[in-house]
Amino acid sequence: MAQIMDGNKLSMDIRGKVEKEVGLLNESGIDVGLGLLHAGENPASMQYLKATLSSCKKTGIRAFQFDLPETSSLNEILNLIHSINRDERINGLLVLLPLPDRINPRRVVNEIVPEKDIDGLGSLSVGRLAADESTFQILQERDYEALYSINPMSLSAGFLPCTPFGVIRLLEYYGIDVKGKHAVVIGKSLAVGKPMSLMLLAKEATVTVCHKATSDLGYFTRQADIICTATGIRGLVTADMVKDGAVVVDIGINVLKDGSIVGDVDFEAVEKKASFITPVPGGVGTVTISMLLENTVRSAKTGQFLKHF
Ligand SMILES: NC(=O)c1ccc[n+]([C@@H]2O[C@H](COP(=O)([O-])OP(=O)(O)OC[C@H]3O[C@@H](n4cnc5c(N)ncnc54)[C@H](OP(=O)(O)O)[C@@H]3O)[C@@H](O)[C@H]2O)c1
Repeated sequence: MAQIMDGNKLSMDIRGKVEKEVGLLNESGIDVGLGLLHAGENPASMQYLKATLSSCKKTGIRAFQFDLPETSSLNEILNLIHSINRDERINGLLVLLPLPDRINPRRVVNEIVPEKDIDGLGSLSVGRLAADESTFQILQERDYEALYSINPMSLSAGFLPCTPFGVIRLLEYYGIDVKGKHAVVIGKSLAVGKPMSLMLLAKEATVTVCHKATSDLGYFTRQADIICTATGIRGLVTADMVKDGAVVVDIGINVLKDGSIVGDVDFEAVEKKASFITPVPGGVGTVTISMLLENTVRSAKTGQFLKHF
């Protein structure tokens, strides 16, 4: 029977630190603000928004919510982002994806200034990760405390995409070393699958990336020491696709008609074969939000420091 990787436990640690940092900033007269922008009513986004707003409240971060209608035009969204970029109260901006089909998400995400790109999805942040120049590669020693201090590293490095960074933090929290392991990532989106594979590669795993056109998914997953799945397809990963003792990380979120949430993995069956497994909910999702809060505090600290120059 697999050990459950409890995202809530790790989140409590991270949010405790975030709350402390926010308190210290408040004492020096600085508020920490997070912008949350969505267009339309995607159910997974709405759930994520609700959970993020509640976490902001608990940690003292001020949330600025921008609810745009499904019919919003690209220009309207870009104009709003320009004003958020200039808004001194907002230290980081998260654009909830997916945006309506007509809107090119890359145009939108790339409009966020890198200093406020706390989800690390702008081309500059993604490029830094791919070029071994991001916070992540500098932090090989896992000294995440360094993120909170003002030093050349924290000032120059961009932000890492919250979901895959959260997965890495969760693996480390449970003492799972990925070096030399075969990691199979299912999904190649820019928000999750692709940066996930780059981070695992940076940690010296042997990485295979699968996607819709992969002809025999099970052939690859059966070889995996670590499976990270992010597709949003309920029940995609079944027990016969998992090697005994594999680590299974379920990033997928499917909102059912009754409002409950399940992931990509057939949890009950896979739990019996895996050595570690993340539940949905209570696994990766909550850590993703913690990463978002952590990145927002870092942005507030470095932004404040740079204003002195
Ligand atoms: N837990 C969290 O914190 C968190 C955060 C973000 C997203 N999510 C969830 O993670 C899931 C993925 O999000 P996303 O933004 O990456 O979605 P996305 O942009 O729709 O990407 C889905 C990926 O899954 C691949 N895929 C689809 N069907 C497949 C199949 N049958 N076999 C193998 N690969 C398949 C797609 O391949 P192609 O590229 O070839 O189309 C694509 O790369 C969603 O459920 C989302 O709600 C969770």
